[in-house]
Amino acid sequence: MALPPSQRLSDNVITVTRPTLPDLEEFGKQLEEIWASRWLTNDGPFHKELEHRLAERLGVENLSLFCNGTIALLVALQTLRINSGEVITTPFTFPATAHVLHWNRVTPVFCDIEEESCNIDPSRIEELISPDTKAILAVHVYGTPCDCQAIQAIADKHGLHVIYDAAHAFGVELNGIPILRYGDLSVLSFHATKLYTTVEGGALISRTEAQRKRVNFLRNFGIADEETVVGPGINGKMNELQAAFGLLTLKGVEEEIRQRLRITEMYRDRLDGIPGIRFLKPRSDVRPNGAYFPIFIDPTRYGVSRNDLHAALKRHNILTRKYFYPLCSHYSCYSALPSSAPSRHQVAEKVAENVLCLPIYGTLEEASVEAICNLIRGLPQSAPLG
Ligand SMILES: Cc1ncc(COP(=O)(O)O)c(C=O)c1O
Repeated sequence: MALPPSQRLSDNVITVTRPTLPDLEEFGKQLEEIWASRWLTNDGPFHKELEHRLAERLGVENLSLFCNGTIALLVALQTLRINSGEVITTPFTFPATAHVLHWNRVTPVFCDIEEESCNIDPSRIEELISPDTKAILAVHVYGTPCDCQAIQAIADKHGLHVIYDAAHAFGVELNGIPILRYGDLSVLSFHATKLYTTVEGGALISRTEAQRKRVNFLRNFGIADEETVVGPGINGKMNELQAAFGLLTLKGVEEEIRQRLRITEMYRDRLDGIPGIRFLKPRSDVRPNGAYFPIFIDPTRYGVSRNDLHAALKRHNILTRKYFYPLCSHYSCYSALPSSAPSRHQVAEKVAENVLCLPIYGTLEEASVEAICNLIRGLPQSAPLG
């Protein structure tokens, strides 16, 4: 049934992201197989194949699929038995990163970020370590790798676990090593807004086979066999329909990344030299994935504020996102924490005030990128700050 025009996204609107969908006929064939087998969930054949293929693609040995990235993060903490005390994390992230700590009865301790990478600043971590600190939960924001070596050195010195929220970092490599191999555990999100999607979905990457076993018990209510429940698990399973979908999107993921990197280059080229507009620089030690294209606006040099640019682009049907504004430390549920005081993360405060993520997805047309860049370049002349 076709949606009435009022419920459809207008063809004229450029959204910040857009999933590249697999061939509907191919998906139909997979659905026929599922209908014939009536195997809908619980480690079915599509699920098994997707776990295998993803582990292969991402260069890891122990990968467990999940219904979404948030539950995978929740289970990551439970896997390491982190269910009290404090965890040091970044305020510059999606709400899920902080909320999974709260759901595990852990107090988030917000650490400032580096301006260049937007990731947790290792030089600010040690001052936050207390006798209650259990782990560092770092985020590879926009797919830019954290300073994993520095973070690991601190963790080793103080006997802490390291968990990476790698929701943005599908396929990223640091120094030729898959980013998912760093730390104790890493978590991916396959949400529809991500460059690789299973509609909703995620994965938890463990270091060892023993850890993977524990993850898989926890993902399925703690059930070990028909009569044994080994621990207080949850339902974090991905179903067969999502796994089948994910096998098809996996076929297109290299092209999706290639196109995103091409668009990234276009943005860099067209936005270069605009006073007060900064973007992330390419790094020789990183194999990137083009997941996001954030720009950072210096309103005094650019002549227009981030919010005014956001609103102006919206008037032209271009939807950008203030990822990540507000900071997690500003949410009412966390703002009373001592580590939430804005004076403690001045870099994060500034970045959150000035960041804007521009549209990026594999099928974004070159003409759209040109139009977006022309608007950004021309806006200060047409609407300077009063
Ligand atoms: C950094 C980060 N962590 C966690 C999540 C949560 O993942 P999911 O939506 O798959 O639960 C997201 C976004 O969706 C995210 O951007």
